[in-house]
Formats: sequence, C-alpha cells, structure tokens
Amino acid sequence: MENACLIVSSPSKMQRLSKQWTLKKQTIGFIPTMGCLHEGHLSLMRQARKQTQKVVVSIFVNPLQFGRNEDFKIYPKPFEQDLQLCKEVGVDVIFHPTVSDFYPRQFQTTIDGNALAKKYCGRSRPGHFNGVLTAVHILFELIRPSSAFFGEKDFQQLFLIKQMCRDLWIPTEIVPMPIIRESNGLAMSSRNTYLNAEQKENAACLFHAISSVQAAVKKGYAKTAELHALAASLINHAPGMEMEYAHFVDLKTLLPLGDNIHTSSRLLLAAHIGENPRVRLIDNGHIAV
Ligand code: PAF
Repeated sequence: MENACLIVSSPSKMQRLSKQWTLKKQTIGFIPTMGCLHEGHLSLMRQARKQTQKVVVSIFVNPLQFGRNEDFKIYPKPFEQDLQLCKEVGVDVIFHPTVSDFYPRQFQTTIDGNALAKKYCGRSRPGHFNGVLTAVHILFELIRPSSAFFGEKDFQQLFLIKQMCRDLWIPTEIVPMPIIRESNGLAMSSRNTYLNAEQKENAACLFHAISSVQAAVKKGYAKTAELHALAASLINHAPGMEMEYAHFVDLKTLLPLGDNIHTSSRLLLAAHIGENPRVRLIDNGHIAV
C-alpha cells in the first residue's frame, strides 16, 4: 500500500511540524540520508516504521562533508525514485532543504569530532566528519527525533555520532543497523551507482577480505600484521582495486588494536576503484575472538 508522504523543504517548517508531534507525545524516527536510496536505507526506514509513530527521512547532499576533489557535483539525485521508495515504506515526511536554506550565509558554527574524526577515513578526507556531525546536529535540532537510525557500513560515522550525542547530551536514541549487501557481498552504497558490472564484482573483494580474516581468526590466527597482510593481498589483487587502509579497532574506543587480536573488534577497510570517477568504497566487519 502506498502512503502520502509530505515533502518539506523549509527548515523552520520542519521544526514546527516536529514540535507539534512532540507536543502530542508522538515518537519520531529519523533516517538522515543524502538520497539515492537503496536497500540499506530502506532497512533503516522499515525499522523506524516499526519502532516509532512518525518517520522522517532527510534527503540532503551535504556540501560540508565533501572535499574539494570529491564527488559533490556529480552525486546522484534521483529524487522521484527516492520519493516513490519512501511512499512504499510509509515514510511520513521527506525533509529536503536547499543548501542555502540549510546553511544560510551568516552560518558560522560547526561541530568538531576532534581526534577520532582525523583517523581512518578522516585522514584522507580532512574535515569530512566535522561536516557530517554539523549536518546531523542541525538535523537533530530541527527534527528532535526520539530515535535515529544509522547503517553500520559507515562504522566510524556511527561511532562519532554516538560520541556527539553523549558529549552534548542529545537525548536521541541512536539505533545501529546491520550492513545490507548485494548477493556477491558488496556492501550497498549510493556510490555503487558509479560502478559497472565488472567493477561491482571486483569490489566484492572487500567482503571477501573481511570473510577471510574472520575465518583465519576462527582458526586461531591473532597477529594483526599477518591478518592485515591477508586483507591487503586479497584487495590489491582484485583487478582495479587499490587498498587505502585496513585497521583492526577496539569496539569500545575505535582505537587501533596492538600486535594481537585479543578482544572482539572491528576490521575497517577503505579502497579505491576506477578512474573518472575514482570511487572510494568502505566496508567493515565484526572480528570475534
Ligand atoms: O551517511 C550519510 O548519508 C551522511 O553522512 C549523513 C549521515 C546523511 C550526513 O550528511
């Protein structure tokens, strides 16, 4: 069944609407996105639909989180398709502001995730996470969600958002949701639309690297250097793929593990494929000991 889905572009209108819901004690589930929705997003939207009375999806390609040489200008914007998907899931409101309404000219204040925002993806994308946190903070102020849903594919992003909520006493419950994958294991991402069929096959090496490391750890391998070499060789041997990083991190702190895997952790991966555009892909997986 298809539902009506209200499109709100004005930030102040969005704020008024969510205030009305809150006054009526209605719970609000929120899924922040940059559009080009895929099954990963839909799983978050369906979970929100189950858990909360009102569901808001934001579609906003946030310029603050893109570096100069990144894909802001070409980021896909299939709005009509996104709208249709939101209607099918029963989303109540799509918040779809313009950049100039979201960041008016006198805009000055930003959120800084500090040390952790500079690691891993933050190293090759300086300022990226501060841009994400600033946008998410503004969205939370406008929508005041009871719960917000984030995919674990962006594991570092999820961790930093939880850190922001804890540090700034934001009462929104952050609900992490598992990675949704294509049948070959490739993690769903809006950026997969940049890949052709052959590249999609090759990009599945990230998932194979995670699975192979998980299997090796199960067999008793624990040296992070050896496991790193295993992941790197699987990724770098896939045609067209170039690994950017592989890190084994502590689940509680997101800091790198030492020489040995001694506790349950996460393997974080980033790699590049193709030219024009050179597509950056990330993935991660749980490493159980
Ligand atoms: O994960 C994303 O799509 C973006 O980083 C987010 C959370 C919508 C902020 O712009």
